[in-house]
Amino acid sequence: MSIPLIDLKLQYQQIRQEVQTAISGALDSMQLFLGPNVQRLEEDFANFCGVQHAIGVANGTEALSLSLRALEIGRGDEVITVSWTFIATLEAIVHVGATPVVVDIDPRTYCLDPAALARAITPRTRAVIPVHVFGHPADMDAIREVCGPRRIHIVEDACQAHGARYRKQRVGSLGDAAAFSFYMSKNLAGYGDGGMVTTNDSDVARRLRMLRDHGQEQRGVFSMVGYNSRLDELQAAILNVKMRRLAKWHEARRHLADYYNEKLSGLDLVTPHEAPGCEHVYHLYAIRSPRRDAIAAKLQEAGIGFAMHYKAPPHLQPALGNYNLAQLDLPVTLRCADEILQLPMYPELTTEQVDQVCEVVRSALG
Ligand SMILES: Cc1ncc(COP(=O)(O)O)c(C=O)c1O
Repeated sequence: MSIPLIDLKLQYQQIRQEVQTAISGALDSMQLFLGPNVQRLEEDFANFCGVQHAIGVANGTEALSLSLRALEIGRGDEVITVSWTFIATLEAIVHVGATPVVVDIDPRTYCLDPAALARAITPRTRAVIPVHVFGHPADMDAIREVCGPRRIHIVEDACQAHGARYRKQRVGSLGDAAAFSFYMSKNLAGYGDGGMVTTNDSDVARRLRMLRDHGQEQRGVFSMVGYNSRLDELQAAILNVKMRRLAKWHEARRHLADYYNEKLSGLDLVTPHEAPGCEHVYHLYAIRSPRRDAIAAKLQEAGIGFAMHYKAPPHLQPALGNYNLAQLDLPVTLRCADEILQLPMYPELTTEQVDQVCEVVRSALG
């Protein structure tokens, strides 16, 4: 039996009635412009992350770029991030006119390496975007130690990490602002695009509310040149249904990850690391092996879904050719690009299916 990398239909079948009721309610009310569903999601998401403000926006990419704009970062400024991420992290920096600077990652967590960050700082550095990649939090204490004394802003890229914890605090509450994506494959996902920014800074929140709605301070008063980047009311209605199940889904992912770890132990590959004090939410379950391509071939043959994020990391993409990133020395990123593979992971996956996946991985390495 084939096993997909992620099964969106299976989850939809379980919540279909509630989702349809929520969508009908929104349509019946015809309050489709920053209405009650967006408001409720913003309140619940802020509580969930343990922050004062959550601002719904159109997608995760704009959650990042609007956060940078709200922090008044733009032309002439450098923003440091990683290349072990989706290209959107770097696009957001370019969108605000700033210069992306890329550093290497930690070989165990695959998140930004704080020592590399310290070495990359220049007088023009205004912000850093740590990415909580695959659902594991970056080392925020070490990052804050580097950034704090220099007044460098921190914008968390939490697009893959809804609910992950760092020293008991949820991601989204660990920097000046944080960006989340509700793209359909994320741990909390709509059936279309959506995003959220969280922050404890009331000024940043106020600017974000203006920026997402054409810079309007009050109806008809446009105080800054903004964007059309509002979270859609129908997506918010769907997300409110899913928000109630997020904790349960999160536990299911963690249980499946433990099961994978156990079944894959003893094989010549590296399973995901959970750093002390961190709670991984396994948006993606990634293994690392020099024989990655042989494993992929066997999975393909067996009809098992897999991915190779980020086989071609963003700093090597032609789109970013003007920023002299390709010649940077990023040995850990490049090694991950050659060796990392993601296996099926979604809350409805069964342990029997994990057995099947692990058997194929074992046979590839055997
Ligand atoms: C790490 C990371 N950053 C940013 C984004 C951008 O989010 P979106 O697709 O909602 O624009 C994504 C999601 O695709 C992501 O995985």
